[in-house]
Amino acid sequence: MSDNIATLEIKGEKYEFPLIHGTENETAIDIKSLRGSTGGIITIDPGYKNTGSCESAITFLNGEKGILRYRGYAIEALAEKADFLEVAYLLIFGELPTSEQLTKFYKDIKAQSVVDDDVKKILDAFPKSAHPMGVLASLTNALTAFNPSSVNVDSEEDMYKAIVKILGKFPVLVAWTMRKKRGLPLDYGDSSLGYVENVLKMMFKQPNEEYKLNPIIVNALDKLLILHADHEQNCSTSTVRIVGSSHAGLFASLAAGISALWGPLHGGANQAVLEMLEAIKEDGGDTKKYMAKAKDKDDPFRLMGFGHRVYKNFDPRATIIKKAADEVLGDLGVEDPILDIAKGLEKEALEDSYFVDRKLYPNVDFYSGIIYRAMGIPTEMFTVMFALGRLPGWIAQWREMRLRKEPIGRPRQVYIGENHREFKNIADR
Ligand code: ACO
Repeated sequence: MSDNIATLEIKGEKYEFPLIHGTENETAIDIKSLRGSTGGIITIDPGYKNTGSCESAITFLNGEKGILRYRGYAIEALAEKADFLEVAYLLIFGELPTSEQLTKFYKDIKAQSVVDDDVKKILDAFPKSAHPMGVLASLTNALTAFNPSSVNVDSEEDMYKAIVKILGKFPVLVAWTMRKKRGLPLDYGDSSLGYVENVLKMMFKQPNEEYKLNPIIVNALDKLLILHADHEQNCSTSTVRIVGSSHAGLFASLAAGISALWGPLHGGANQAVLEMLEAIKEDGGDTKKYMAKAKDKDDPFRLMGFGHRVYKNFDPRATIIKKAADEVLGDLGVEDPILDIAKGLEKEALEDSYFVDRKLYPNVDFYSGIIYRAMGIPTEMFTVMFALGRLPGWIAQWREMRLRKEPIGRPRQVYIGENHREFKNIADR
């Protein structure tokens, strides 16, 4: 029996399946032939905790060791030495760009950064109270209507054009979503600025004054976007891949990913952190009371922004972003009771044996919420900022899925409903 074979015995019958190995020694049982060879038996795994949906060469993470790498490069090195567009290029095309490639990439993105003026009519139709994530998903889908030519994925050139188009237009949609909420006139930024600088200007420029860029804020946002750029087969990324697997277009696949990211169990967690801090403030700001609630097993309250499903020792992204959060808070000198509560909770939790013993550390969402708040970004926009960062990852995963010619995603089920029954006429029911 080879080391590379898994044997499954069902009712005395033995079936063999090959083992496949990733480059980081991960092992999977390849069950592609299971249903065919067993006459219809399938596996079931709700939540896909044991199921690999694809082979991917984009992101590697190891939750136990706190490792996160994009295309083999450590997140720590990328956050320190690269900027967001370089990381986007790396994720999408697989290699760090040369300076010519990066210059061309940004030039091509800028050339696509104007959105059809009629998109404003759609935005205007939303009430101010609409959640920005719903608005962003709708506008991203609507872009398909304004750019109807479908992408020929067999042409690298066509694929490239679609990619720079969405990278150019998406920040405009993000900024307009926030400006609409704030009642500010819709505007474009300044194509002489860098990608991240331009995003900030598009979001914050007041109609009657110059917008001054703060390098500490630019640096913090750049890092936040890099840290959120990809996280392998999470809920929204899997959504993008599965929608794209039906050969729906890139923009439609991304719009579906935005909807998946919206949920509080996924990208919505950063909003939940701030809502928790606000609730604590409303209740008098007693952090000790909430620490006690978090530790009380009879109380469902959990300290939002602490702990992580995958990272069980530390979240490498949180280590990087904590420094940026300290810099932003120090530089802006913000006086904000909410941020004082956050600092208080962080300190208490890091010294408390309940949190220390369970290895519950602040996660990336804890610090991203704090930074966004200090920057003056409304709480409801936090997940939109996450989407802006995740965009290159979604694109990279969609591109990989199409280039690998993956089949349409179509899981099976175990039916547990009624067996065949005779139809009863309405008078007889
Ligand atoms: N506050 C208080 N206790 C906690 C917390 C928390 N935030 N997180 C975990 N615990 C406790 C659990 O009660 C459990 O205690 P026990 O061993 O005495 O029963 C122990 O720590 C282990 O927790 P699990 O629930 O097994 O951890 P799991 O991996 O299932 O959950 C999760 C991870 C969902 C992130 C959890 O830590 C949590 O709810 N955190 C708050 C929400 C949050 O911040 N989510 C964002 C995650 S980051 C992201 O999505 C990008």
